[in-house]
Amino acid sequence: MIPGPVDVSDEVLAALAAPILPHYGDDWVETHTQAIAELKAVFQTEADAYLLPGSGSSGLEAAIGSVLRPSERAVVMKNGAFGDRLISIAEARGIDLIVHETEWGKPVDPGEAKRLLGAHQPVAGLITIHNETSTGVVNPIRKIASECRARGVPLIVDGVSSIGGIEMQFDAWDIDVCATASQKALGCAPGLSPVAVGKNAWEVMDAKGPAPSWYLSLQFWRDEAVRRADWHPHPVTMPVNLVLALRVSMQQILAEGLAQRFERHARVAKRLRDGLRGIGFSVLADESAASGTVTTALTPDGVSGPDLQRRLLEKHNIMVAFAHDPIKQNAIRIGHMGVNASEEKVDLVLDVLRGCS
Ligand SMILES: Cc1ncc(COP(=O)(O)O)c(C=O)c1O
Repeated sequence: MIPGPVDVSDEVLAALAAPILPHYGDDWVETHTQAIAELKAVFQTEADAYLLPGSGSSGLEAAIGSVLRPSERAVVMKNGAFGDRLISIAEARGIDLIVHETEWGKPVDPGEAKRLLGAHQPVAGLITIHNETSTGVVNPIRKIASECRARGVPLIVDGVSSIGGIEMQFDAWDIDVCATASQKALGCAPGLSPVAVGKNAWEVMDAKGPAPSWYLSLQFWRDEAVRRADWHPHPVTMPVNLVLALRVSMQQILAEGLAQRFERHARVAKRLRDGLRGIGFSVLADESAASGTVTTALTPDGVSGPDLQRRLLEKHNIMVAFAHDPIKQNAIRIGHMGVNASEEKVDLVLDVLRGCS
């Protein structure tokens, strides 16, 4: 029960074990085309989507490095440990950052987005996280997107632990770029970073010329998808079985129905939060912004988070995750994504925690 990689369905596992296909030719082009169509349905977009081989960070770096260029100014809004990763990626790309930090457990404030974008013009982009996996907080991306659009500032969203488990409507909310990862709420194995790219983002990128990158240039992925559309619609060899497996998990997501799936995640997460409070834990996230995919639980007085994590694993064979500094000593994180977003599984975790704490 960690917040990714998650358990996957038997059908996804079977796809991972399927015979290896070539990554080009008619059959593959058909498979890849279908994969992209399914991905666009999951992102709720008519715009473009790509499957970058790599972990979620590869898609994040592609998004940041393609839209933003060295020495441009950008705003990062963070409220947890994964915000630091966005800062590191942007700094490695030479981007001049204005960092806005919100207290852990609280969502970032769209009013602050408005203020920052007004105060620091010109701003070439705003980078933030949909679901902060360190704190279990969901940020109000729709409202932030509307502040960005009002000022013509592209919005880059880390959707690594939200897409497939928490509602995000890429087109309707007017997001410019969002990167996610296969091993979390998409219910597949690690190794693919799906990225959605909107029309406005392409205009911004193309006005600046080619990004100073090759593998992680979104423009390159777009151009190769067009140039080699009928044979090899991506620049590199694809991890073919991961694409097959992701197709299976996306078909399962779409068969369940996006609304039903988000509701299941939210329902199970609430059951876990209520149960945790009933056995002496507290929940870090404000209830109104609590995540459907991961819960950061503050342990009862005198109970060490890392000790509890180890005891759950050693005695009960249940793995939850360590929390991040500065709350590492008095918290654990419980993932409930994909097949792990089940009443049965969170009840088991609660039963075991009741006996352990
Ligand atoms: C919100 C968020 N962003 C980024 C990452 C990094 O993803 P990856 O380890 O797949 O590169 C994670 C991983 O847990 C995450 O939860």
